[in-house]
Amino acid sequence: MNDSKKAIVVGATSGIGEALAIELANNGFEVGLTGRRQNLLDELDRRIQTRTYARKMDIRDAEAAPQILNELVREMNGADVIVINSGVLYRNGSWDELQAMINTNVTGFVAVAEAALEYFTNKGKGHLVGISSIAGLRGAKGSPVYNASKAFISNYMEGLRHKIATSGMPIHVTDIRPGFVRTQMIEGRPRLFWVSSPEKAARQIFSAIRNKKKRVYITRRWRLVAWLARIVPDWIYNKW
Ligand SMILES: NC(=O)c1ccc[n+]([C@@H]2O[C@H](COP(=O)([O-])OP(=O)(O)OC[C@H]3O[C@@H](n4cnc5c(N)ncnc54)[C@H](OP(=O)(O)O)[C@@H]3O)[C@@H](O)[C@H]2O)c1
Repeated sequence: MNDSKKAIVVGATSGIGEALAIELANNGFEVGLTGRRQNLLDELDRRIQTRTYARKMDIRDAEAAPQILNELVREMNGADVIVINSGVLYRNGSWDELQAMINTNVTGFVAVAEAALEYFTNKGKGHLVGISSIAGLRGAKGSPVYNASKAFISNYMEGLRHKIATSGMPIHVTDIRPGFVRTQMIEGRPRLFWVSSPEKAARQIFSAIRNKKKRVYITRRWRLVAWLARIVPDWIYNKW
C-alpha cells in the first residue's frame, strides 16, 4: 500500500461496506464514506477513529454520483483505493424494483467506476475495487436481474483490467465475489449456508485489497461453489 492511505467506500452505511470502512480505518486509512442514509453516515463518522469524510450519494443518479465522488476525492486531497460496494437485491421484484437494481448495480456502478478510473488515470496509479457476487456466475430463479447485474459487474471489471493493462500504469482492479454475508440484504432468508459475518468478510476483502488480487471469493471457501457452478451441467443445475 502506498503512504497516503486514503480509501473511499461507496455504499458504506450498512453491512459489508460499513464493516469494510471500519476495517480500513483500523488499518490506518482515512476513509471517505457515501450512501443515501445520512443518519448512518453520521453515526459511522463518529465511530471511526481515523479521519473520515462523509457525503450523501444516491448512485442511481448517474450524473450527480460521479460529481460527488470527484468532490469527495478533492476534499480528501486524493484517494488510493475506491471501493464500489453499493448494491440492491429484490426477489421477484416489481418493474420499479427491477429498474432500481439495474440503475444501482449496473448504471450507477459504471458511472462511478468510470469517474474513479479517470481520476486514477490522471494520477497515474490507483486501485478500483468492486463488489459483485457469487450470484453473477449463473442465472437463478430467485432474482434473475440481480444475478445478471452481478455478472455484468464481474465481466465489466475484467474488461477494465485488460483495458488499463495496455496503459502500463499501476492501476489495479479487484473483483470481490461474496457468497452469503449476514447483512440486511439476506435478512429472513432460510436455508443459507456458509454465512459469514460482515466483519470476517471485511477482513478478507481488506487482505485482497492489500495483496492487489484480481478476483476473490468471500469467504475463501466459496471458491469451491464457484468451481462447481462452472462445471455443473444444465440438467443438474435446472433441478436445483
Ligand atoms: N450480503 C450478501 O450475502 C451479499 C452477497 C454477495 C454480494 N453482496 C453485495 O455486497 C454489497 C453490499 O451489500 P450488503 O450485503 O452489505 O447489504 P446492505 O447492508 O443492504 O448494504 C448495501 C449498501 O449499498 C448502499 N446502497 C444501496 N443503494 C444505494 C444507492 N442508490 N446509492 C448509494 N448507495 C446505495 C446502501 O446504502 P444506503 O441504503 O444508505 O444508500 C448500503 O450501504 C452489495 O453490492 C451486494 O450486492 C452481498
